[in-house]
Amino acid sequence: MSAPAHPDSTDLDRLHSAVKREKEDLAPETQPAPLWAMFLLMLVAIIAGGQLGPMTGGWSFNVSNPFATAGGGDPRPGGAGAGDALDPFALAMKKGSSGYAVCGGCHQGNGGGLPGQFPPLANSEFVLGGTERLIRIVQHGLTGPVTVNGQGFNTPGGMQPFGGAMSSQDLANVLTFVRNSWGNEASMITKEMVQKVRDEEKRASQWTAAELEPFADKNVPGDIPAGPGATAATAAPAPAAK
Ligand code: HEC
Repeated sequence: MSAPAHPDSTDLDRLHSAVKREKEDLAPETQPAPLWAMFLLMLVAIIAGGQLGPMTGGWSFNVSNPFATAGGGDPRPGGAGAGDALDPFALAMKKGSSGYAVCGGCHQGNGGGLPGQFPPLANSEFVLGGTERLIRIVQHGLTGPVTVNGQGFNTPGGMQPFGGAMSSQDLANVLTFVRNSWGNEASMITKEMVQKVRDEEKRASQWTAAELEPFADKNVPGDIPAGPGATAATAAPAPAAK
């Protein structure tokens, strides 16, 4: 906009818009509607609205849903029970991936570990092998020399036990997650399996890798829910068809 020709014209503009903003005065005999009348109307609307629903056959998402699909479904993504729709394996992976934060500080987010300090979980025979040894390691801890993927580790203090700090369910989720991340693929570990080891093996000190050698290929017995978590290579052999 170009500058005003005369300085006064800006003042005039401002005055005019101020006048235009003013509401018109009410005629002397009229009054604004009193506040109590507003509230009364609101109350009537709420009560009437509440009556209207039940009296017209009820309102429900499936009946009144303008986006209804042929089946009269719930249009929200995944429907009302989206969480329930995850199969047990997917659910364990989802929860295990957040639970893994506990391990990731040492074994790293990519499961690669840190050379000379923390052994890798990716492609580790301790992770992919027998479930009994793996559960015992996280349940009670591990100390002393251990060789993973051809690299030797002997970190002072070893790895602390997690059995006291994590529930059987949390451990099962995390172990299912580490067995199926970063290229790992192995059967899921259930809460019942962790609980079984927990009940059978009361132990105060950490394991050594040598002590656990006899369990290298041993799987804790237990049912694995049907689905992707059961189809992995190391899953217990399916019972022979009858
Ligand atoms: C404070 C660091 C630390 C944390 C946290 C930690 N670990 Fe370890 N972990 C180690 C160390 C150190 C070793 C090697 C112990 C040894 O030298 O005997 C190890 C060894 C292992 C092993 C056996 C070797 C291998 O790499 O396969 C497994 C399996 C394992 N950890 C899984 C886990 C899981 C699962 C968690 C989370 C619940 C976890 N660790 C949390 C430090 C840690």
